Amino acid sequence: MDPSNNISRVGVVGAGAMGSGIAQVFALKGFRVLLMDLSVEALARARTGVESSLGRMVRKGTVSEVDKSATLERLTLERSLGALEKVDFCVEAVIEDVDVKRSLFKDLDSLLRAGVVLASNTSSISITRLAAATTRPSLVIGMHFMNPVPLMELVEVIRGHSTSDATHFLTLDLVRRLGKTPVSVSDFPGFISNRILLPMINEAVYSLMEGVASREDIDTVFRLGMHHPMGPLQLADLIGLDVCLGILEILQSGLGDPKYRPCPLLRRMVDAGHLGRKSGRGFYEYGE
Ligand code: CAA
Repeated sequence: MDPSNNISRVGVVGAGAMGSGIAQVFALKGFRVLLMDLSVEALARARTGVESSLGRMVRKGTVSEVDKSATLERLTLERSLGALEKVDFCVEAVIEDVDVKRSLFKDLDSLLRAGVVLASNTSSISITRLAAATTRPSLVIGMHFMNPVPLMELVEVIRGHSTSDATHFLTLDLVRRLGKTPVSVSDFPGFISNRILLPMINEAVYSLMEGVASREDIDTVFRLGMHHPMGPLQLADLIGLDVCLGILEILQSGLGDPKYRPCPLLRRMVDAGHLGRKSGRGFYEYGE
């Protein structure tokens, strides 16, 4: 089945940091967006987050007040999955749990119109496995945005085993319409970004655990020595330590190489609830 090309209404499922950022960039570029979540609190937080993100962009001069208002006007918050029957393209951005995602994909498959592409923002789960939960595997693709979504220019576009050329081209084109740069990736654990980034972060945590250097010095090496905008421990705090651990586990089980084993300190911090910025404490401490 060929994908529907005429895209003006986009559905985003999951109103966490990634989902709300994705909804924001689509709305900013003129798409009408339905941002769906079962939780009223998550939707309220998403609205505040999008307003504050656009506010920062206005202050930096990258977005006008008029565009900010128009973007918010194009964004509709929705609690019912049924509302997605109207959309022309759908992006899933719920928690990184393969069973939750597969069950959602099955429901979305029965709701979305024929020809509507179903993209996942998963950071490391197999697109092929998600596609197999639907009757439209040729229309399922990975669309992996980077955090924070409104600022980062890259989107990894992941072809599952059955993704069609037409779905692939349509998604690459859509990423460019968002003002971002797509990179095509095959469906292997962690894709490109996390297959390379997470072993680096994991090694930084091992270095901290083994007393090679302080957290500040480990991060300074990467900021000043390699011109990274953030050091690996600061970046882990931004991504979320639970998310980092989950990705390392997928790399370890999916690629079968012990070099991906998560550092015990990372695991312990997740057990302690020190998840990074979102919990107020990770490798560093954060205010309200
Ligand atoms: N919308 C949303 N967040 C914004 C924002 C906006 N318009 N403007 C800034 N931010 C965020 C930053 O996270 C940070 O938080 P706080 O100030 O609240 O503590 C802050 O706002 C930084 O503000 P600055 O104005 O100083 O931002 P900057 O211009 O210096 O750039 C940055 C910040 C773009 C995040 C930069 O530090 C950077 O590029 N860091 C690396 C980010 C990165 O590597 N992301 C990829 C993570 S990996 C991933 O996402 C894949 C995965 O699956 C895990």
